[in-house]
Amino acid sequence: YQLEIYLNGLSGVVPDLPMEFEELAERAKAAMSPSVWSYVHGGAGSERTQRANVSAFDRWGLVPRMFVGAAERDLEVDLFGLKLSSPVFMAPIGVLGICGQDGHGDLATARAAALSGVPMVASTLSSDPLEDVAGEFGDTPGFFQLYTPKDRELAESLVHRAEKAGYQGIVVTLDTWIPGWRPRDLATSNFPQLRGHCLSNYFSDPVFRAGLDKSPEEDPGSAVLRWVSTFGNPLTWDDLAWLRSLTDLPLIVKGICHPDDARRAKDGGVDGIYCSNHGGRQADGGLPALEVLPEVVDAADGLPVLFDSGVRNGADVVKALALGATAVGIGRPYAYGLALGGTPGVVHVLRSLLAEADLLMAVDGYPALGDLTRDALRRLA
Ligand code: FNR
Repeated sequence: YQLEIYLNGLSGVVPDLPMEFEELAERAKAAMSPSVWSYVHGGAGSERTQRANVSAFDRWGLVPRMFVGAAERDLEVDLFGLKLSSPVFMAPIGVLGICGQDGHGDLATARAAALSGVPMVASTLSSDPLEDVAGEFGDTPGFFQLYTPKDRELAESLVHRAEKAGYQGIVVTLDTWIPGWRPRDLATSNFPQLRGHCLSNYFSDPVFRAGLDKSPEEDPGSAVLRWVSTFGNPLTWDDLAWLRSLTDLPLIVKGICHPDDARRAKDGGVDGIYCSNHGGRQADGGLPALEVLPEVVDAADGLPVLFDSGVRNGADVVKALALGATAVGIGRPYAYGLALGGTPGVVHVLRSLLAEADLLMAVDGYPALGDLTRDALRRLA
């Protein structure tokens, strides 16, 4: 990608989208309404966990190696039997419809997945039905993220729809059965605006509709109330066997930050552990997710570990891989790319991240993912 940009530069053409995260965020902020910015950028409490997620990457430094002859890099990864061109994916982001694109931000993002080869984890709270989102994936595999409703039949219906639509795995998010304390959202009363963009998967669901006296089109108020009453299920370990029984697709549990939880999830038959603190949106005062990643990886004992929270550039991707992540999730950066430039904006963000990671592996002498072990890093005092 950098070669493409440099060559364009020779003819005087420079990218119209930012090349660096801080500028990307600043320009996205200017492009979004204040309430949309509050929703996407905001986190829980004083946002200390959110900031710590980002600064945690500064506590690790890569040690360059020489005489490696790293002319060719190999970023291809096998994830649940799928061959991915790089160990990077788009983390689930709900309500992408409010990030521009006439309310169809999920479709625009899915198109970016198709163009970039970077898989998208589509949120339960997408602005378009999951079938329509999957319809834009092209040859790139996609995953469905489940917020488990209290209504088990509805959960089953969502998972079976995802299977039928061709999703390649189910990511169950465990840390958001209740919304966190998010002062920015509370101060801007974002709920009505978000609500209009996040209920497509429910309103299009036969089980959800069957539980209503009138259709959501006739009586949206009652449909919203039913959604509120079923949305969050405070699961216990006893529910894991039921979740496992829902699908033969790879089952991944998101929000795991403690090694004991990783071990127990593995014992319960999951296929992947997703280490994340939801980008600091759910609870403040927590450890950065990167800090707990190595112990989660050790406890996962060979199971693939997906990671997100605080990844802002290619160097962050490389560090998370060196600390044991199998694949690294990009969150807010692609939402900013979406708000600024739609599908091409998301593709730009992803390609920039990947180009930087690839170059770093070349310059620092770690040409293959297998070379990126903890020995590649030193911890700063
Ligand atoms: C999220 N995240 C999220 N996670 C999830 O499992 N389902 C969801 O619907 C959402 N929705 C959502 C909305 C917004 C606006 C953001 C920013 C994030 C969490 C997401 O998957 C990921 O864990 C974080 O984005 C990682 O943190 P950073 O790197 O974006 O700071």
